[in-house]
Amino acid sequence: MSESTPQFTTTQTGTPVASDAHSLTVGADGATVLHDRYLVEKLAQFNRERIPERIVHAKGGGAFGELVITGDVSAYTRAAVFQPGATSETLLRFSSVAGELGSPDTWRDVRGFALKFYTTEGNLDIVGNNTPVFFIRDAIKFPDFIHSQKRLPGSGLRDADMQWDFWTLSPESAHQVTYLMGDRGLPRSWRHVNGYGSHTYQWINAAGERFWVKYHFIARQGVETIEAPEAEAIAGADADFYRRDLYEAIERGEYPTWDVKVQVMPYDDAKTYRFNPFDLTKVWPHADYPLIEVGHFTLNRNPQNHFAEIEQAAFSPANQVPGTDISPDKMLMARVFSYPDAQRYRVGTNYNQLPVNAPHAAPVHNYSQDGAQRHHFNAPTTPVYAPNSFGGPHADPARAAEGSWEHDGELVRAAATLHAEDGDFGQAGTLYREVFDASAKERFLVTLTGQAQAISIDEIRERFFGYWTNVDASLGAALRAAYTAVAAGDTAADVPQQPEAGEPEPDEAHAA
Ligand code: HEM
Repeated sequence: MSESTPQFTTTQTGTPVASDAHSLTVGADGATVLHDRYLVEKLAQFNRERIPERIVHAKGGGAFGELVITGDVSAYTRAAVFQPGATSETLLRFSSVAGELGSPDTWRDVRGFALKFYTTEGNLDIVGNNTPVFFIRDAIKFPDFIHSQKRLPGSGLRDADMQWDFWTLSPESAHQVTYLMGDRGLPRSWRHVNGYGSHTYQWINAAGERFWVKYHFIARQGVETIEAPEAEAIAGADADFYRRDLYEAIERGEYPTWDVKVQVMPYDDAKTYRFNPFDLTKVWPHADYPLIEVGHFTLNRNPQNHFAEIEQAAFSPANQVPGTDISPDKMLMARVFSYPDAQRYRVGTNYNQLPVNAPHAAPVHNYSQDGAQRHHFNAPTTPVYAPNSFGGPHADPARAAEGSWEHDGELVRAAATLHAEDGDFGQAGTLYREVFDASAKERFLVTLTGQAQAISIDEIRERFFGYWTNVDASLGAALRAAYTAVAAGDTAADVPQQPEAGEPEPDEAHAA
């Protein structure tokens, strides 16, 4: 429809219409007739303009660009997309997690960072966030977690009690909540966030050797944040602040760029590493596994149609390519089911045939057929089943062993194996003590004091103090004192200062 501008308005089947402005009526003031087919088609089509919003990450925006590989990681992966000199068309969608489709961009939240690389071997999606960890480590908690962040069923209101009830009863959330309540919860713009694949993924090289990897996308624009009063003012004045910023920057020719880096862990290290490498609430300190240069990507093209190319975009951690795969992270294994399931419902069975989701640089050739709104289909002579004797496509034997790992085989419901330094609060404490500088610590204390005030149930507030005391004892004490002072009527400006706790690290992923 967009390629040409026809002379006449037409129906969906191409017939010129009689009027854009007047319905067909019996006389100028008479009844509207049902057989005004264009009127009926127009109203019916309008009623179907909306699709369900994403169950999470509903509000977002994105742009297209190009990934360029400048490093040499061929020792770790055979993926064509990561070979030296390779370039791939790229789509990146940013989002907030908890808010609905029209929610203000600058509400405190984690930001989604969803990448799609249209590679010659199929699409590779890395669906991450602007933080390297997550709130939980087992997918069975995900719907509960999201329910606690969204709205109460009765009042339709968001509620600090249920948010903190869930978090304080789920101590594995401490690391991510420290990020969320810290400066990273309020970015200056989407251009000023880093992205993280967060999970541990698997890479496989040409010799079939396996490695564990974590993806890092470092903003060349730098990481910038805003303070809470400014974020609140912007939320009232311009709900689309981040979407506008990205769109207008690209229109001006200011193309944002992210460096792509990875941490690589030899396959056997996973057994003995001091943190369970498949626990999504943990980072790998950079001192243990330094960042390795892979390349960079630049966003240089706005969507032509936000709905067609961003709203209908379907990202999934299931979309891997030869030489990349998932790991035994319990969250990741569930996500590879959850996303395509959500998208079959949200967009439709054949969502992968839409131009934004279909591979742009690789053919699709399989035995699926039919389903609502199928657009592409196999040639009439192609066999419709496998195996067959008529030359139909067959699986790639080189991929048979990919994406595997050794495991103990017993079916259990258990927490992930604890490694030597695993604990729910350790890395959160390190983030607070060693990465936040003095002024970030001050803002953190003010934010948490506000959160304590928003909690209305004493038992949950007590747990809240216990939670932060576990992260850092002096923080817990300062928080309780600040809350008591504010509750006693002192102003927020009188909030006691946090005791100094070490020099800030230059490198964000404590992690240095
Ligand atoms: C087991 C845990 C999780 C489940 C079940 C889950 C499920 C979902 C679902 C159903 C969607 C909507 C998909 C769609 O309608 O297109 C979604 C979106 C998203 N999720 Fe998750 N999620 C989980 C954990 C995570 C984690 C750990 C991250 C980041 C590291 C993440 C990042 C995102 C992002 C960025 C989007 C938006 C993608 C886009 O821009 O379209 N999710 N998630």
